[in-house]
Amino acid sequence: MVSLQGLTVGQVAERSGIAVSAVHFYEEKGLITSWRNNANHRRYSAAVLRKIAVIKAAQKLGVPLKEIKAAMDQLPNEKKISASDWAKLSTWWQEDLDKRIAELQDLREGLNECIGCGCLSMTDCHLLNPEDKMKSQGPGAHLLGWRRKPYTENA
Ligand code: FES
Repeated sequence: MVSLQGLTVGQVAERSGIAVSAVHFYEEKGLITSWRNNANHRRYSAAVLRKIAVIKAAQKLGVPLKEIKAAMDQLPNEKKISASDWAKLSTWWQEDLDKRIAELQDLREGLNECIGCGCLSMTDCHLLNPEDKMKSQGPGAHLLGWRRKPYTENA
């Protein structure tokens, strides 16, 4: 039961299935907020529970906290995340996951060529430089550090 005085950190942790330290960590990272009551105890709105559910889901998808925060910052702070908000976020993150899966499949194919080879040649290795496609992007192992486009409301 959520009182008008808000949830304690212990209640948030118990209802979210996370540790109290994780609640504090999310707050420290600016993903959730609290206020202080008259006794100077931290309190949370019930809307925080849904935010934590979204954070947990995004983390399972491999979305970094920094990107989760950027997405959360575009949502109304004290309002409960709506089904429509979640639909937008999950669609965005699904597309991002699809891209990463495709990139990982490409990497796996490149790795297949490497098994038993051992050359690690910057010009010939199928993993480090597949078909010399990465030449135009400058030096470095570009395939080993995929980049996400940050979530935007209008994406
Ligand atoms: S190590 Fe030779 S192709 Fe990758």
